[in-house]
Amino acid sequence: MSAIISRTESFCSRFGLRVPILLAPMAGTCPPSLSIAVSSAGGLGAGGVLMMQPDEILTWANEVRAASNGAFQLNVWIPDPPPQRDPAHEARVREFLAQWGPAVPPEAGNATLPDFAAQCEAMLTAGPRIVSSIMGLYPPDYVAKLKARGIAWFATASTVAEARAAEAAGADVIVAQGAEAGGHRGAFTAADAERRLVGLFALLPAVVDAVRVPVVATGGIADARGIAAALVLGASAVQIGTGFLRCPEAKIHPAWADALAQTAPEDTVVSRVFSGRPGRAIVTDYVRAATADSAPPPAPYPVQRGLTTAMRAQGQKAGDVHRMQAWAGQSAALASAEPAAALVQRLWDEARAIVG
Ligand SMILES: Cc1cc2nc3c(=O)[nH]c(=O)nc-3n(C[C@H](O)[C@H](O)[C@H](O)COP(=O)(O)O)c2cc1C
Repeated sequence: MSAIISRTESFCSRFGLRVPILLAPMAGTCPPSLSIAVSSAGGLGAGGVLMMQPDEILTWANEVRAASNGAFQLNVWIPDPPPQRDPAHEARVREFLAQWGPAVPPEAGNATLPDFAAQCEAMLTAGPRIVSSIMGLYPPDYVAKLKARGIAWFATASTVAEARAAEAAGADVIVAQGAEAGGHRGAFTAADAERRLVGLFALLPAVVDAVRVPVVATGGIADARGIAAALVLGASAVQIGTGFLRCPEAKIHPAWADALAQTAPEDTVVSRVFSGRPGRAIVTDYVRAATADSAPPPAPYPVQRGLTTAMRAQGQKAGDVHRMQAWAGQSAALASAEPAAALVQRLWDEARAIVG
């Protein structure tokens, strides 16, 4: 057996998988149906709980567990320090956004997220095999609680230094997130997220060399060639986000799903224009206008998220992708519109044929 296959098999047997393909946690875009389909094909499901209250986290986990073998991870963002508010600047952003959607009241910027500590407790209660993190590290006492319950910690890292820090803090697996990735970048410090854009081809072998724990590759992987390349570069498994978004079980708006199919790598960009935290999305009309020099810079996270809520809701209702939050990785056009379980099986069959 090749060294690659033996590496993936040891990863799979440790985490109860048949296939080394992980659904990426995607807050707001992770209906139970998608995880149920991925885990039924032997992969790992994922719940991105960032915007869920504790009872919603438990409901999500119960629903997935009841209809699957229970192979899933739960994921939350490590919070940033509170934003510095600037009412005069927010007024300029609100005026700009009113050209794209309804008028934005000043209090829209006060939007808050569910309590992080309560979410962390709910993830423990939900009892998944794996809890993952992005944008930082869990505090040591929470890491100890995970370990006491036999829950593995998968830590997202977007640089070698972050991967080393995560391993030192007790992470069981590093998820190396290349700059190709769709959605928010995992940089521990928000200011670094747009500056340190390390592509997966450089990041992955460097992280594999830097840590002793297994490494999962993520960012721009959406077909068997990408999976095989990641395994050759030292990954034990791959994590796919955008590549699952066109599956019917993902239930995203058809306008967004259709746009993904037309999106070349250069048609995506990392910007702060939706939430205030850098993330990669399709260059829609709004993204183009909001990233122009003439536009006011976005407010910090999560203020910008609150300010753009009304525009995004209107875009969603109208089926207008140009005003939706159309996250996409650079390999968006490779995303296949087929049932997720069939996709997992096909991707792994094809990747195995390549790596031998
Ligand atoms: C719609 C969307 C939402 C995401 N939300 C999260 C999240 O809540 N937590 C997280 O760790 N990563 C999140 N990500 C990043 C993914 O976990 C992963 O790094 C990324 O999808 C990999 O790149 P790809 O989209 O090219 O496959 C999100 C990605 C997308 C596309």
